[in-house]
Amino acid sequence: MSHVANSVDLLRQDVALDNLNTLRLPARAAWFAAVDHVDALRAVLDDPRIAGLPKLVIGGGSNLVLTGDFPGLVLHVAFHGRSRVQEDAEAFYIRAGGGENWHDFVRWTLEMGWPGLENLSLIPGTVGAAPVQNIGAYGLEMAEHFYSLRAYDLETGKTVGFDKRDCAFGYRDSFFKQAGKGRYLIAAVTFRLPKAWKAITGYADVAKELDAQGIVKPTPLQVSDAVVAIRRRKLPDPAEIGNAGSFFKNPVVDAEAYARLAEQHPGLPHYPQADGRVKLAAGWLIEQAGWKGRRLGPVGCYDKQALVLVNHGGATGADVIAASNAVRADVSARFGVELEPEPVFAGVEP
Ligand code: EPU
Repeated sequence: MSHVANSVDLLRQDVALDNLNTLRLPARAAWFAAVDHVDALRAVLDDPRIAGLPKLVIGGGSNLVLTGDFPGLVLHVAFHGRSRVQEDAEAFYIRAGGGENWHDFVRWTLEMGWPGLENLSLIPGTVGAAPVQNIGAYGLEMAEHFYSLRAYDLETGKTVGFDKRDCAFGYRDSFFKQAGKGRYLIAAVTFRLPKAWKAITGYADVAKELDAQGIVKPTPLQVSDAVVAIRRRKLPDPAEIGNAGSFFKNPVVDAEAYARLAEQHPGLPHYPQADGRVKLAAGWLIEQAGWKGRRLGPVGCYDKQALVLVNHGGATGADVIAASNAVRADVSARFGVELEPEPVFAGVEP
């Protein structure tokens, strides 16, 4: 049976977005539609009532700062489905709809016997949002196991395939945060999970957690469980307190700047990069600048992980920007290091 989508049923006017962003910022969309397949999307985009208006795609809303009401159409991605699409001698190819919950997808791959994504367990958000910022944690970035994606081009109305090179993945970065920002709705993502599996346990927190449990040769599920335990301890649950995960990228400085800082601050955590530059821990810089657990109005740095800004209740986008700017100014004054916000801003950029 063919599925005829009708935009009259899908388009809603003046919709609250408070529950569609994990920072829980108040904002309204002039128009809103949740779309679960491409015909529905096309029907909505062809509706004359939204012609010429700006569009904003929202997945889980867990890496998003809504700086105010959105005057155009908000598209909530509800594309579902997950399956093994291919298998060769070396790897499984697993596809999921952009609207699938990321953590549920990861756990499902583990249950099915296709390991590889376990270090990215419990990251909030959706499968379709994962490539936008190239999510990463505990020694693994999504790009490592990314194969391809299918996106809908909101400008041309065409469906486009992207391979790994097209996506231009970087540290918490991709084409979709740069030249392609705001233009695409990611409908489905395919991952390549190699059959030769090896646990990634080099990250200090993971090694410590497994050690504490007396696990020497962990299974993929045990790595996942360890990551879940660490995240639960250190990171705020968006269901309990509004936040968007790490609010700043870990800054990368040149070797000279690092040498200068290391001399003044012997305990400075640092991660040498392949290009000779050095990545610093923004959370450490923020804590040293006195911001861990500190608030400016209703927004503050989380008391167990200073890199996370939390909404203690009633914050607006302007409050988040004010706190973010205050933290950046203090870190800059104290260390001469400029912090860059990590989430996507819808509306005013700080
Ligand atoms: N640190 C402090 N004080 C703090 C926070 C951290 O001194 O308040 C120090 C830690 O002691 C450690 C270092 O900073 O020496 C790094 O801390 P951690 O291992 O907690 O990781 P992170 O660099 O703060 C990054 C990612 C997280 C990811 C973790 C684990 C970014 C922007 N953040 O945080 O990702 O979960 O590593 O891999 O790269 C996210 O992107 O939203 C996110 C949560």
